Amino acid sequence: RQRKFFAGGNWKMNGNKKGIDDIIHFLNADCVDPNVEVVVAPPAVYLEYVRQKLNPQIGVAGQNCYKVASGAFTGDISADMIKDVSCNWVILGHSERRNVFGESDKLIGEKVKYALSVGLNVLPCIGEKLEEREAGKTEEVVFRQMQAIIDNISPNEWNRVVIAYEPVWAIGTGKNATPEQAQEVHKGLRNWLSKKVSSEVAEKVRILYGGSVTAANCNDLAAKPDIDGFLVGGASLKKDFITIVKSGS
Ligand code: G3H
Repeated sequence: RQRKFFAGGNWKMNGNKKGIDDIIHFLNADCVDPNVEVVVAPPAVYLEYVRQKLNPQIGVAGQNCYKVASGAFTGDISADMIKDVSCNWVILGHSERRNVFGESDKLIGEKVKYALSVGLNVLPCIGEKLEEREAGKTEEVVFRQMQAIIDNISPNEWNRVVIAYEPVWAIGTGKNATPEQAQEVHKGLRNWLSKKVSSEVAEKVRILYGGSVTAANCNDLAAKPDIDGFLVGGASLKKDFITIVKSGS
């Protein structure tokens, strides 16, 4: 592989200490692989708990954070806090943040900028809705979302960025993008990045696919040249995640 395979597990708003102990157990036993970078994103209240129990070779991510260090922002957490509990990653602009909580491209860009400035690795997410795909607007949408992100990344920060393409219609629906559909968008994104940022960044940046990735479909998706890994929701709570990690090995 040209780029190190990446397997992200986004637990979303799921789990409790007992369930998390079970997940940590199979992660530590079976998901440490020199060929695959593994990062899991527990709910914020469990970040420190997971970080303390997980093999240090597995990364831990926040699922979201705000754009400043601290202040009167009830209910939110900061990138600084994620760092303070020894976690190095944050997911930003997940489709649920965009579509359930109404986050704009602009806010997501500001969050990316701030999280990078404090030293976190950032996983910005993009993806079109079903009606946008059906209207032939997939590229228009994902390029617009990407523009707001790349405007906030300095050249020396790109090595701390991993992009996740997650078509909204594929998230949690059991209807994954076909390997061909995902490859087409990933390749389009890479071409676009080479024009808008640089050919070096386009070649090096990892672009993950997310949306109903399972133990059954991961191998075919992972075989595509521009798919550098996955951001997994539902299946990351189960032992199926081991198979998904291994698909990149
Ligand atoms: O971040 C993960 C994605 O939203 C995918 O979720 O694997 O449950 O479809 P899913």
